[in-house]
Amino acid sequence: MKILVTGCEGMLGQAVMRRLASVHELTGVDVAGADLTQAQQVKDLFDRTKPEWVIHCAAWTDVDGAESHREAAMAVNGLATEYVAQNCDAIAAGLTYISTDYVFNGRGGAQGYTENEKRDPINYYGLTKARGEEAVESMSGPWQIVRTSWLFGDGKVNFPKTIRRLLGEKPTLKVVADQRGCPTHADDLADVLGFLVSSGSRGIFHGTNAGQCTWFDLAREVAGLIKVDVQHITACSGSEYPTAAVRPACSVLESHHLEEAGCPDRPLWQEAVGRYIRLLETGQARHL
Ligand SMILES: NC(=O)c1ccc[n+]([C@@H]2O[C@H](COP(=O)([O-])OP(=O)(O)OC[C@H]3O[C@@H](n4cnc5c(N)ncnc54)[C@H](OP(=O)(O)O)[C@@H]3O)[C@@H](O)[C@H]2O)c1
Repeated sequence: MKILVTGCEGMLGQAVMRRLASVHELTGVDVAGADLTQAQQVKDLFDRTKPEWVIHCAAWTDVDGAESHREAAMAVNGLATEYVAQNCDAIAAGLTYISTDYVFNGRGGAQGYTENEKRDPINYYGLTKARGEEAVESMSGPWQIVRTSWLFGDGKVNFPKTIRRLLGEKPTLKVVADQRGCPTHADDLADVLGFLVSSGSRGIFHGTNAGQCTWFDLAREVAGLIKVDVQHITACSGSEYPTAAVRPACSVLESHHLEEAGCPDRPLWQEAVGRYIRLLETGQARHL
C-alpha cells in the first residue's frame, strides 16, 4: 500500500519508517516538508503524494509545554489532525491516528481503561489529543485511533534513556511511584500499526507493551539492566515532583480490540526495555 507517514523524524515515525518499509511503499514527511497546521500545505502534500493510507504520527508531544503554549499545541494535535482527516476523506484514503492514555483522567483504578471508555483529559495535551480523536471519528472513510503510552525507543529523549544517563551522573535518584501506566517500545507499536493497516480493521485500539508498572518500577528495571544497584533509586510521590501538567494516576490501557482483530501478542514491557537498553549499551542506537 502507498502510505504517507507524518512525523517521520519523530521517535515513533522513525520506527514506522524502519519497520514497515519492506511491506509498504512509504513516504515520510515532517514539519520541514509540510507544516500540517497550514491547510494549504496539507492539501499540497496530499496532491503531491496521493496516499492510499496515512499513519499520522506528527504531534505536539511536550506535555508540560502544552499548558503554556495552548494555541500552538491545539493547532498541531487538533486542527492539523482535522486537516489530515478531511484530506484523507477527499481522496478516500484511510487514516491511522496515534493517540494517548492521557485522554483519560486516571481515576479509574488499577484495571485501567478499555477502548470505549469515556474521554476525560485532565491536562491540556490530553485535551488536544482528544480533539484529534474527535476529528478522526467524524470521518466518512476508514479510520483507526491507536492509543499508546509511555513511549520509548531509538529517539532523542525518552524516560529509560534519561534514567540511564542520570544514573551515571548522580548517586541517587527519586522517581515517582504513584503513577501507573504501560511502557511501550516504539518498534513494537510500529509492528502493531503495520498489522492494523494491513488488516483494514476500524475503530479504537490500545497499543502498548504487555504489563503495567510505575515510573519507579521502570527506573529500577533500567538500573538492573545497566548493573546499577536498584537501591540507588528511591520512591517519591507525584506531589514531590511538581510539573506544569497534572498526570493521570493510573492510565493503564487495557486491550481487547487488537485481540479481536487477531493482532499477535505484544512483548512484555520488561523485555522491550531490555531490548532498547541493550541497543544503547552496545552503541547500536542511532540516537545515543
Ligand atoms: N512520547 C510518548 O510518550 C507518547 C505517549 C503517548 C502517545 N504518544 C503519541 O505518539 C505519537 C508519536 O509520538 P513521538 O513521541 O514519536 O513524538 P515526537 O518524537 O515528538 O515526534 C513528533 C513529530 O511531529 C513533528 N511535528 C510537530 N509539529 C508538526 C507540524 N506542525 N507539522 C508537521 N510535523 C510536526 C515533530 O517535529 P519537530 O520535532 O520538529 O517539532 C516531530 O518530528 C504522537 O501522536 C503522540 O501524541 C506519545
